[in-house]
Amino acid sequence: MCGIVGYTGPREAYPIILKGLKRLEYRGYDSSGVALLHDGKLNVYKKKGKVAELEESVLGKDLHAHIGIGHTRWATHGEPSDRNAHPHQSQSGELAMIHNGIIENYTQIKNDLLKKGYRFNSDTDTEVLLNFIEDIKKNNACTLEEALRIALKRVVGAYCILLISNDDPETIIAARKGSPLVIGIGKGEHFLASDASPIIEYTKEVVYVNDYEIAIVKPDELILKNLGNEKQTPFITKLDMELAAIEKGGYDHFMLKEIYEQPDTIFDCLRGRLLAGSGKIIMSGIENNLDAFIKAPRIIIVACGTSWHAGLVAEYMIEELCRIPVEVEYASEFRYRNPVIHKGDVIIAISQSGETADTLVALESAKEKGAFIFGVVNAVGSSIARLSDAGAYTHSGPEIGVASTKAFTGQLAVLTMVALKIGYAKGTLDETRFLHLIKELEAVPEKVKEILQDTTNIQRIAEKYKNAHDFLFLGRGYNFPIALEGALKLKEISYIHAEGYPAAEMKHGPIALVDESLPVVFVATKDSYYQKIVSNVQEIKARKGKVIAVTTFGDEVIPGMADDVMTVPDADEVIAPLLSVVPLQLLSYYVGLAKGLDVDKPRNLAKSVTVE
Ligand code: AGP
Repeated sequence: MCGIVGYTGPREAYPIILKGLKRLEYRGYDSSGVALLHDGKLNVYKKKGKVAELEESVLGKDLHAHIGIGHTRWATHGEPSDRNAHPHQSQSGELAMIHNGIIENYTQIKNDLLKKGYRFNSDTDTEVLLNFIEDIKKNNACTLEEALRIALKRVVGAYCILLISNDDPETIIAARKGSPLVIGIGKGEHFLASDASPIIEYTKEVVYVNDYEIAIVKPDELILKNLGNEKQTPFITKLDMELAAIEKGGYDHFMLKEIYEQPDTIFDCLRGRLLAGSGKIIMSGIENNLDAFIKAPRIIIVACGTSWHAGLVAEYMIEELCRIPVEVEYASEFRYRNPVIHKGDVIIAISQSGETADTLVALESAKEKGAFIFGVVNAVGSSIARLSDAGAYTHSGPEIGVASTKAFTGQLAVLTMVALKIGYAKGTLDETRFLHLIKELEAVPEKVKEILQDTTNIQRIAEKYKNAHDFLFLGRGYNFPIALEGALKLKEISYIHAEGYPAAEMKHGPIALVDESLPVVFVATKDSYYQKIVSNVQEIKARKGKVIAVTTFGDEVIPGMADDVMTVPDADEVIAPLLSVVPLQLLSYYVGLAKGLDVDKPRNLAKSVTVE
């Protein structure tokens, strides 16, 4: 996590860096800071809290510079505070550095430096790395670039760093391993950032820096080298993204904007792939590897958080439609328990950001064992996308709200197409059902639009239950992962404790929690489990629990039993999760709003979790 921005060129650096930090704030907002270099003097300003607080604190200060670096922090080493905020300065005051990642062996390096007389102004691993670089530079009488290279060979961990020195008025030295770095190429200027959002306004030509590369960036020169000091050819990519996509566009929050974008983002995801008229699905990532999927003895899905929930829905779909056994793994657990990966196993990695460290590391180790990796990723050009052997982008556009919404429905749309395509090719899904499901999928954008038309009922429900201390979310079959997702959304945005459970499993324990103060959200659309879930609703009502139900429009049974109802249009049960999740996204948004919380930047969270 953490967002980094840098600029070198003829313009004033501070406004570019500040705007960039605001765009990257979703990556962390514990503190922020800038280092501006002018006339051999480094001005470093930093502040605990959001970027707006930094902006306020520098009013009237000397902000003039044509080169600078900025950082917005998600704390790992050291509490959120002014002193732990980045940029850090080296002991001599000559160097300033920002860092996204974790230096795992920093204690040992710090102890060595302490023995040499170094003193530290913060609790961060970053300040240790910076002084380590300075120490190497002094002892070896070498260039900063050389010192950095030596230091990076000795550190263990992940990093994206930007470094400036008061004796070089126009160079930013950058390096990455595990944490993302994009360099925007302008005319006589360069922009550096954790993702393309701070860059898009100025140029569409970017270079994605690879792991173990060092970039020496001057206004009119970009040199890329590997850690062995060999020059690398920068590969220039054209950004396919518009500025409007990363702005709020009249909505109060990115989360609400992104919920409302879903009819369009799902449509974009299906466009050119789902050809309902000719009864076809075109996905080159599957077509080119059809054999690998059809013959796969097993599919392992690896993801975290909301993406993991999308994986659970895919498990139901792939097992039903393709008859291939599926295991859905938390990336963090999969990585560390030495999993058994058989020859021929296919791994599907799901990630919005494409930078989640747990997922990335899990995939790297699976790849070493020879697994074939299919990526379902939103962020184009991200690390997971590049690591995958094949894949399908979700085309949901930049997701800025920390709570994932449109990326989730994009993942479901892609995974549904994957399951349909493989099932049909394998012969486990007959033509009639294949064509029916294609039609059902095609209808989703319009149905989501219907759900979004009027949200006053959901706002009323949010107001009614906003002071509850706990929530239970229950669902069965395809809607069980949606219950988990509903609970996660509510926790993230409203800080209310919420648990998701398979509805039938509740009687094996969680039912003990039920009393008149517990809201229980049932995801109970008309599907093959419907009669069973009606009984589960009765079980809750018999114990005086408050039932809020997501039901299919026209259902007359559950609304007669529930305290409150949110309806969605009718859909095949395979497709239903794409609809039933939407009222739950809105519910968590409106509960958070009713509680006066910052829904786009919930406490302690960051959008892109780039630490393990
Ligand atoms: C979702 O609302 C969360 N903020 C979080 O669980 C997220 O889905 C998870 O960190 C995985 O991120 P990714 O999809 O970018 O890999």
